[in-house]
Amino acid sequence: MVKRYAGTRLGESHVARKLAVIGAGLMGSGIAQVSAQAGWDVVLRDVTDEALARGTGGIKASYDKFVSKGKLAAEDAEAALSRITTTTDLDAVADADLVVEAVFEKLEVKHEIFRALDKIVRDDAVLASNTSAIPITKIAAVTERPERVVGTHFFSPVPMMQLCELVRGYKTSDETLATAREFAESVGKTCIVVNRDVAGFVTTRLISALVVEAAKLYESGVATAEDIDTACKLGFGHAMGPLATADLTGVDILLHATGNIYTESQDEKFAPPELMRRMVDAGDIGRKSGQGFYKHG
Ligand SMILES: NC(=O)c1ccc[n+]([C@@H]2O[C@H](COP(=O)([O-])OP(=O)(O)OC[C@H]3O[C@@H](n4cnc5c(N)ncnc54)[C@H](O)[C@@H]3O)[C@@H](O)[C@H]2O)c1
Repeated sequence: MVKRYAGTRLGESHVARKLAVIGAGLMGSGIAQVSAQAGWDVVLRDVTDEALARGTGGIKASYDKFVSKGKLAAEDAEAALSRITTTTDLDAVADADLVVEAVFEKLEVKHEIFRALDKIVRDDAVLASNTSAIPITKIAAVTERPERVVGTHFFSPVPMMQLCELVRGYKTSDETLATAREFAESVGKTCIVVNRDVAGFVTTRLISALVVEAAKLYESGVATAEDIDTACKLGFGHAMGPLATADLTGVDILLHATGNIYTESQDEKFAPPELMRRMVDAGDIGRKSGQGFYKHG
């Protein structure tokens, strides 16, 4: 029996379908993990064996944790792992029904991948990007199938976060959007649809605007980081304040995302504050470096 992540059975029509995930980093490995657990055959592709080993090591450790907490049967974890194959060869994804790209957030890297994928995969295959801020239309433009390109924006950590933001590019077809929704729902996610391909979509625009304003308030001495975060938690019921969120996500990641939105929209509210740029220059990028708006560890 094949189970989907949320514990219900996956529809028979999906069982034989093949997913390719490009990029075995934090997001790609998470997407591979939930998909394999939901019954998809997954080919995970990265540029080096080391990156693939890191990705699959993370997946195994995460399955082990779910098993030890009694949330996943050991044999289901084993079956899910056996559905994941890894490769450094892009040609190995040729027979995928759906490809989800999760490489670095750099347009030129994504362009290179989409150009190559467009030549390799079947004409009816759907190409999805997990980008957080780059317009899907820009990514789709280098392919001969812009109507079959869509955004599937998962959240980190993928096995825990419920949301998948589906993004329509300028030419994305209804059928492609439906395929993306079917995929995301099959791995237990709830979807929202971004109908117009604005940079940053809905979620990255919201968090960027909040973090930029919080950083400006902090930078100009209006309030401490703790008080800004407390305001959001106790005043608005947010689970985490914006500056703690920036530290968790990575100040570098948010600076890059907001910079992208600013470049696209020319909307001053997304102009990256000088403080965030200097923090990134200094290496104070949050939890992963031990120092961000807060000291960690
Ligand atoms: N980290 C997050 O919280 C988060 C959340 C949502 C969306 N995203 C988006 O997901 C994407 C991936 O982010 P991430 O955090 O997983 O990055 P990451 O740095 O953890 O992983 C990126 C991976 O892509 C690989 N890669 C680079 N070029 C490649 C190529 N040509 N072929 C195959 N693999 C290649 C790298 O080796 C690396 O393993 C980005 O677009 C990012 O904006 C990230």
